[in-house]
Amino acid sequence: MSPQQAVAAVVVLAAGQGTRMRSATPKVLHEIGGRSMLGHVLAAAAPLGAAETLVVVGAGREAVADHLAAVAPGARPVVQDEQRGSGHAAAVALAAVPDLAGPVLVVNGDAPLLREQTVTALVEAHRAAGAALTVLTARVEDPTGLGRIVRDGSGAVTGIVEERDATPEQRAITEVNAGVYVGDAAAFRGALARIGQDNDQGEVYLTDVVGLLVGDGETVAGAPAEDPDDVLGCNDRRELAARRRTLNDRVLDELMRAGVTVVDPATTWVDVTATVAADALLEPGVQLRGTTSVAAGAVVGPDSTLVDTTVGEGASVVRSHVLGAVVGPQAVVGPFSYLRPGTDLARGAKVGAFVETKNARVGEGSKVPHLSYVGDATLGRGTNVGAATVFVNYDGMAKHHTTVGDHVRIGSDTMLVAPVTVGDGAYTAAGSVITQDVPPGAMGVARAAQRNVAGWVRRRRPGSAAARAAEAATGPDVGAQADDAGGDSPNGHHDQ
Ligand code: UD1
Ligand code: CA
Repeated sequence: MSPQQAVAAVVVLAAGQGTRMRSATPKVLHEIGGRSMLGHVLAAAAPLGAAETLVVVGAGREAVADHLAAVAPGARPVVQDEQRGSGHAAAVALAAVPDLAGPVLVVNGDAPLLREQTVTALVEAHRAAGAALTVLTARVEDPTGLGRIVRDGSGAVTGIVEERDATPEQRAITEVNAGVYVGDAAAFRGALARIGQDNDQGEVYLTDVVGLLVGDGETVAGAPAEDPDDVLGCNDRRELAARRRTLNDRVLDELMRAGVTVVDPATTWVDVTATVAADALLEPGVQLRGTTSVAAGAVVGPDSTLVDTTVGEGASVVRSHVLGAVVGPQAVVGPFSYLRPGTDLARGAKVGAFVETKNARVGEGSKVPHLSYVGDATLGRGTNVGAATVFVNYDGMAKHHTTVGDHVRIGSDTMLVAPVTVGDGAYTAAGSVITQDVPPGAMGVARAAQRNVAGWVRRRRPGSAAARAAEAATGPDVGAQADDAGGDSPNGHHDQ
């Protein structure tokens, strides 16, 4: 153990079935606030700098091991074949590192609110007490379901008793076991080897090491957590919701203290992995997920979800769904925009109402204000895309790219059939289907020429409101005689 290492090993107990979750997903993989429960526990223990991090896996072991490989590749899964109890799980972990000595942190995998400072304080209390084992405790109003900390007349910890094995007097105790322990590896090994299964569940209880070590005359300390919320476990979906709420409150409190305006904390959800700068403003109904970051002066919401998205200074995102995008400084998004991965809006760009973008770079000051799809495209600066334009990127087999230059004017209802390039300063005529490149400065027109069939309405829709309106506007004679286009109908023009 090097001097920077506060403990020699971290052992996370994560093999339990989590029966009460009633889920096909292993309990410790349920997510709250941007991390799995297991991820929160590992994050809290990471600053201890342990050389070994062992995670006991059992129920859903493949899924848990895969998750570990993704989020904590340095951690080692240790398989507990049969879930015989938390004490058995800890013993299996320590058996995987037979030469390991020194202090070991053992922690339940279902403690998503555990924080770095709480773990660090526990390790420090353990060191200061010179104890063989120190257990994190909490004084709670409602201890239902948790192990009770039993102390003697002098206040010394003498044991932990599970609720189902407790006497009525013990049940009245409100100091509970958090499921977080620091102990000397040798003391753990010695005590774990002696634990029986003589309890209501017939399980090997880790908590029994406390009584055994006290019986050996060892010092066992109980260190109360500063914030009792830290120790709250999570065993079912109702607790999952409650923990999520508590975690979110903490995140928002921290943001508000740091200068972020949160208009409605009750409807604003920010992952622990997201960042928001001072003087950003979060309107009601906002979710900031994953690696999302919001810069100073930006306004997000109301009613917007941002995942893995970067929002620049002074930008605004209103009523939109934004995934894996970069929204540049002063850029404007929404209302009702859908930005998908690879969207990159430069400074001052605009993506307006009912616009979907994907893998699209929109240059500085360029605008896509209404009702468009921009997929697989690069737009230069100062360009405007008319309403109802579609970047036709998919030919049924492959996706193709469209390049639009600087200061281009794409007419409304243009179909840009990729691969195609519209040069700098070019225009396209409204309603064009552009299949060939438009050179710089040219006007691309690709639509049928218009032809008006005079008097059609009077002849074909006589007596209708339209015919009367036409007559009032033009006089009774216009278009009275039949023409050779009598078969024209609104859906069957024959132009040219
Ligand atoms: C446990 C404690 C209890 C404490 C509470 C805090 C025991 C006996 N009791 O109760 O005193 O107040 O946590 O939340 O430890 N596990 C395994 N393998 C097993 C069994 C469990 O890895 O064979 C893991 C679980 O995944 C879980 C942890 O051990 O992360 C604790 O098990 P759990 O069944 O959740 O214990 P609790 O009843 O919550
Ligand atoms: Ca538990």
